[in-house]
Amino acid sequence: MTGAEGRPAAICVTNAKGGTGKTTVAINVAGALNERGRDVLFVDLDPQGNATEGLGLVEAYDAAPPTLFDVLTDPEQRDALSDIVVSHPEMDVVPSNIDMLQAEHELTLANVMAKLAADPTLDGDPAGLAPLTINAGPSTVEGDHALDALHLALAELETDYDYVVVDSPPFYGQLTDTAIYAARNVLIPALTEATSERAIELLFDQIAALEDRTGISITELGVVANRVESTNEDEEMLQWLETVFSDVPVWAVRKRVALQRSFSQGESLFRYDPTVDMADVFTDIATTLDERFGYVEEVTA
Ligand SMILES: Nc1ncnc2c1ncn2[C@@H]1O[C@H](COP(=O)(O)OP(=O)(O)OP(=O)(O)O)[C@@H](O)[C@H]1O
Ligand SMILES: [Mg+2]
Repeated sequence: MTGAEGRPAAICVTNAKGGTGKTTVAINVAGALNERGRDVLFVDLDPQGNATEGLGLVEAYDAAPPTLFDVLTDPEQRDALSDIVVSHPEMDVVPSNIDMLQAEHELTLANVMAKLAADPTLDGDPAGLAPLTINAGPSTVEGDHALDALHLALAELETDYDYVVVDSPPFYGQLTDTAIYAARNVLIPALTEATSERAIELLFDQIAALEDRTGISITELGVVANRVESTNEDEEMLQWLETVFSDVPVWAVRKRVALQRSFSQGESLFRYDPTVDMADVFTDIATTLDERFGYVEEVTA
């Protein structure tokens, strides 16, 4: 089964604020979708490689090229994506890699090259930047931006996945834009604390800027209020999130040590211990996504 336009439904789990639960939410949403019988490709776009490590794929993080870095920065190596996919009992995984630490820099220069080549009013030779990059060069950058790198690489995959779930890094920049551009749909984990207000405002700004720059339209699928505790501040922030996101679901994931333990075991709650109460929240998210993307019948994994 495939989503709209014959492509998998793709979701970027994002919030540039660190430690909000992006990786935890991404792994558990992927686990919940798998539990419903969906085929999931998980993409770890964070150079920290937390999800890669969390899913027990440390060797892939240290693997020699070609890696996700090459797939994103060199169109001639884009089709290497299928070679770097690793199997996990619950999902297929595109692991991050230590080389991804260079990706933000490379994509920044690739985007500058693309802009210089596309806009004759700008004074500068894209070729002059080539010595500063490892892979990207004027001949490898098409169009007026390089943010479609993951989108194009995913289009070349031959396996039919129902979903692609992308875990994004904790900073605003080209990598996160590349993840959002590929997915077109965002799921936003947010802590129920005051700092989330600014983080959400910045995310809205980033999404608007990306839409302006590339002409795509991005959908907010919902918010996952994470590590919620029973304090007044948490309750007030939950209400604030529900007001700001009045058109989409706001799920509440409570603070549970089982989420940390399942992560350390390299699996989602659904393999670690599906009886943990928060598994129901992730099942609810997966069910809502299935409804949203037209995957109606439940298939037992
Ligand atoms: N609901 C929860 N209950 C308890 N611990 C949690 C919960 N959600 C996340 N954690 C823990 O909080 C820490 C941060 O979570 P996580 O790594 O998922 O956040 P992140 O947004 O991906 O971080 P980064 O910004 O570094 O990528 C981890 O140790 C994780 O196990
Ligand atoms: Mg993370």
